[in-house]
Amino acid sequence: MTRMEQYLDEHRGRFEEELCQLLRIPSISADPGCSQDIRRAAQWVADRLGRLGLAAEIIETSGHPLIYAESEPVEAAPTALVYGHYDVQPPDPLDRWISPPFEPQIRDGSIYARGATDDKGQMLTHILSVEAWRATQERLPLNLRFIIEGEEEVGSSALATFLDEHGDRLACDCVVISDGAQFGPGQPAITYGLRGIAYYELRLQGPRRDLHSGSFGGTVTNPANALTRMLAALSDAEGRIQIPGFYDDVVPLSGEERRRLAELPFDEDRFYRQLGVSGGMGEAGYTVLERRWARPTYDINGLTAGYQGDGAKTVIPASAAAKFSFRLVPHQDPEKISRGLEAFLRSLCPPGIQMELVVHHGSPATVVSLDSPYIQAAARAIEAAFGRPPVYTREGGSIPIVTAFHHKLKADTLLLGWGQDDDNAHAPNEKLCLADFHRGIRASARLWEELGRLGKDSRQASRPPAS
Ligand code: BES
Ligand code: ZN
Repeated sequence: MTRMEQYLDEHRGRFEEELCQLLRIPSISADPGCSQDIRRAAQWVADRLGRLGLAAEIIETSGHPLIYAESEPVEAAPTALVYGHYDVQPPDPLDRWISPPFEPQIRDGSIYARGATDDKGQMLTHILSVEAWRATQERLPLNLRFIIEGEEEVGSSALATFLDEHGDRLACDCVVISDGAQFGPGQPAITYGLRGIAYYELRLQGPRRDLHSGSFGGTVTNPANALTRMLAALSDAEGRIQIPGFYDDVVPLSGEERRRLAELPFDEDRFYRQLGVSGGMGEAGYTVLERRWARPTYDINGLTAGYQGDGAKTVIPASAAAKFSFRLVPHQDPEKISRGLEAFLRSLCPPGIQMELVVHHGSPATVVSLDSPYIQAAARAIEAAFGRPPVYTREGGSIPIVTAFHHKLKADTLLLGWGQDDDNAHAPNEKLCLADFHRGIRASARLWEELGRLGKDSRQASRPPAS
């Protein structure tokens, strides 16, 4: 066993305790009542990076703070930028949690808490691996920069502004992100594509007050009825989106990529069984993996209208609202989608209803090239830590800043998810398997070595000159 491995083994318990500390902070970015906790989480991350001997600072923004840190320069070595997020999704519905969301508990080899996999646990692997390097080696084998944000779950607008104004501080050869999943238990993955997203809220206002549905039913437009009709009109029964022009920019999947996805060992029946459903639906002519990773979708995320209490109440609600989003694929532009959506909804809006469409956030999809020495280095690190080479996957989720990194930093992106699909991200009983947490730390430690070995400018050296 190497000194590094021994160190990682000896400190497992403390690493888990440190993760618990961070998980106890309810840093819910969408909740304005959590601003103190957001700050505490940012401070925790900055202190933790500072204790590694990195120059770490909290950067104030118009939104939630960013944390930036960098290691001392190592000449002739590449620079990796680690990105992660300390914010989490709201924990509701609270009554479905077996243990409270911000009181981490270890059960059956997993740690349960909001943020365990998304993304506190995964982000921490890259911090703890640096500790192991510091403790067992003379120096780091590469230049490391960290940028950790608190708004990933609400669209990353503060980081996008920072990137526009101070992108030079984030200059790097590759970006390292662990904020996703492996292909399955025992089968690690490198992700080369993420879907984009466009998120909206539709508010419909009808009569100036709630009305008795007996006295007034049949005369006014019920906003809840109008809402369900309008929402239903956005897609057909298969899930194909009906907004004119929605598919115009969608790049069809190549035959080659479809073949590669079909080769992944994926059992559709097992997938549905694990979700507790007898079957599913989606665009005809596409496999489940294609529909999850590489086709656009439309989902209602929340509905508010009318009486929600016990028993029955005969009422026409004065207003109704819905939150919904589209997942986007490469080349779809969220702003163009918003324009098409607004025009379509206006054409569907019935008399007696005033509609307001709020655009919450939007970010385009990304696909990164697998033809990169950094990807190969990551594959070697993963194989060493997980005992198996990674497969190459796309993901259906979104990490809004990745596309901006890609365009501004012109660096390769390594999406190395240590989680599992059944980690319950965004749902009650979120968890991270502790074995995956520790394998993630090992893979990260090995990644620094593999990247360091590539030396500087290996990207340019390995590629033909741009034409
Ligand atoms: N970790 C996820 C992204 C993700 C999800 C990667 C599934 C791989 C598989 C990230 O924290 C996330 O949830 N992003 C949001 C972004 C949105 C709120 C702008 C998402 O995808 O819903
Ligand atoms: Zn998330």
